[in-house]
Parts: sequence; structure tokens; C-alpha cells
Amino acid sequence: MSPGGPRTSPEGGQVLPESLLRTLPGLYYTDETVFALEQQRVFERMWFCAVRSGDLDAPGAFRTVQVGRESVLVSRNRRGEIRAFLNVCRHRGARVCTEEAGQVRRAFQCPYHAWTYDLDGTLLAAPNLTSMPDVDRVEWGLVRVAVREWLGYVWVCLATDADGGPPSFEDTVQREVTERLGELSAIDAYAVDGLELGRRISYDVAANWKLIVENFMECYHCATIHPELTEVLPEFADGYAAQYYVGHGAEFGAEVDGFTVDGSAGVERLPGVTVEQDRRYYAITIKPQVFVNLVPDHVIVHRMFPLAPDRTVVECDWLYLPSVVESGADLDRSVELFDRVNRQDFEACERCQPAMSSRLYAEGGVLVPSEHHIAGFHDWLRAHLTDDAGTVPS
Ligand code: FES
Ligand code: FE
Repeated sequence: MSPGGPRTSPEGGQVLPESLLRTLPGLYYTDETVFALEQQRVFERMWFCAVRSGDLDAPGAFRTVQVGRESVLVSRNRRGEIRAFLNVCRHRGARVCTEEAGQVRRAFQCPYHAWTYDLDGTLLAAPNLTSMPDVDRVEWGLVRVAVREWLGYVWVCLATDADGGPPSFEDTVQREVTERLGELSAIDAYAVDGLELGRRISYDVAANWKLIVENFMECYHCATIHPELTEVLPEFADGYAAQYYVGHGAEFGAEVDGFTVDGSAGVERLPGVTVEQDRRYYAITIKPQVFVNLVPDHVIVHRMFPLAPDRTVVECDWLYLPSVVESGADLDRSVELFDRVNRQDFEACERCQPAMSSRLYAEGGVLVPSEHHIAGFHDWLRAHLTDDAGTVPS
């Protein structure tokens, strides 16, 4: 800093040395208006990883999830096909299913006036419906939402015709995997959709969703806050986001036997994992709300549910071979490694959240060179939030 204080640009902003790039301004992490725009233009327009397919294990099994401003009901019809609907009764708008998860026999019945919808959403019955023969039962059924199954998860998209419909799944979700791993087929080796849920932990994080994404995208913090992870993956101690070089997986330390909290041996390796993929960790960010972590014997999937500018629920699944889960193998040391990493990361994010409204952060913080790629995430977000007039919140 110069004796008179920080140097400023003609616009009055601080001039940054070339090594540093600006983050987003603090209000992006605190402001209700920005959050509402993100809900509309990001979470309600893009493919959103909602539910694990295996959690819907029979016709009529359902889950409700928050996607942007909407509650979405995801279920399976009698033919076993996935269906997703806005969880809003067509009569007077009551939430049709109020539980987070459940099972109906053959229909969803609204708890208010008992409008009843079959598992494809068609209006089956309602008090006095026969006296209203002009009410079309499909037209007045539950409103369907686009669905796609991939990696053993149900992805939904709420984009409307006015939004141009759902974006290409291949050009968005799958492209993120290709750009990270070099080729989409690299993830096939893990056969993720055939894996079984070994453990699930839900974290209620008092931080904006973007702090969690930014944290996941850099390893500058690894040496400081992840002692167990850097023991297993020594190159993470350098602080460089080696995990973000295309196709690169961080190699296990020479003395490490498995991706576990103490480096001890893990469980049975996934049979398709190649020689190049063995003993390596690959992290993939699928914007806006999914992280996939690949290691030789399991896969960890994070789904984020942004609920407020300063609150994000993160549901984390540890997935193993079905034979491993059925055998009752001890998964504790395997789960504990990333559970600790999660807690360390989320605590760091929660430590940053209150400072987002500090006057010091009005212009934002800074990214060091090993974090410069995070500016690409910020550009991506700004592009999505830009309205037709080309203005972005500032
Ligand atoms: Fe659902 Fe009336 S609001 S039946
Ligand atoms: Fe971390």
C-alpha cells in the first residue's frame, strides 16, 4: 500500500497487481435480489441434480426437493419411469406432498380438497368432478417437469418455453465432465449408475452456495485446513489446483493404501477403473450445484440445495459396489476422510459468509494465480444473470 493509502483506478476502484484478480462483490453473497435472480436464471433454467434414482425404489416412491423457488415432486410411475412435477395442486395451490420422502400406493392426493392425481400426474378424481365434465383431466393434471437420468441420479429442468426450454444436457452437464476429464467416457469406467449408496450425510451450511463452489474449485486452502487429505494426496499440499488440469488426477502418496482417513486400505476396487485412473483422485464441478469425486473404490457425489443467500444444504452420498454394501463392510474410515474434508471446507465457508457484508468486501476479495480459474465461474454466473438489457447486479 502506498503511504497515502491504496492506489485507485480512474473509476475509484483499487488497482490490483497483475497476480490478483477480483472476486465477485460481497453483495453477490448476501443480497436477496441477486439470490432471486440466481433462482430464476440459474437453478430454474439449468439441469439440476435432484434425487438419487435408487431412492425411488418402487412405483409411487417419491421425494420432494427445492429447485430455485419451486418445490418439485419426483416419483416413479407404474411402469417404473421417473416423473417429476411442480409440487403444486392445480385447484387452489396446496403443496401436494408435504413430506421430504414417502410412498403412495397409486395416486397423489392433495390434503386440502382431495384432488387426486395418478403417478403420471393426470387428474384422477376430485369431489364432484363428474359434475364438471368440461374439466380435462390431463390439462388439469400436475405440471410435468423435464427429467433426465444420468450417473444414477434424476436431473430435472424447470426451464419454460419462454426460456427456450431445457438446455442441451450434453452441452451443459456432460460437457463439464468432458472438460475436466478430457473425455466423457473416462467417467464410464466408474459405472456410477450401478453403484449403491453406502452412506449419506446432509450438511446445513450457513454460507452462500457460491462460496462452496469456489472452495471446491481451489486447493490453495488444502495445506491449511485438510491435514488428512494432504496426507493421502501429497500434491494437494502445494496449493495448486492440479485437480483442474484437464485429465489430471491427484496421485495417492507412495505409502497410502487407500482413500481413507488414515490412508489404510479401502474396499474392493471398481472393476472398470483403468491403470491410469487407479490410485488417483479426480474432482469434477458440474455447475451449478454438483461435485463428483472419483477414487478407485468409491464415488462421492455432492448435491447442493441453495435455500437462502446465506444457507445451503449439501447432501453428500458415498457410493460403492453393491457387493461391498451388501457385505456389511466397514465403511467408516472411507467415509470419514471426505466427511472431515466437508466439515473443514464448510466451516471455512461459514467463516467467510459474515464478512461478505463487510464494507471491506464491497468490491470483493482477490484470487491468487492458483485460483484464477475461479474467475471463469464468476464470468459464467454474470452471463447467466445478465438480463435482456445487458445489466448485471453491481
Ligand atoms: Fe388441492 Fe384444493 S388445493 S384440492
Ligand atoms: Fe477443501
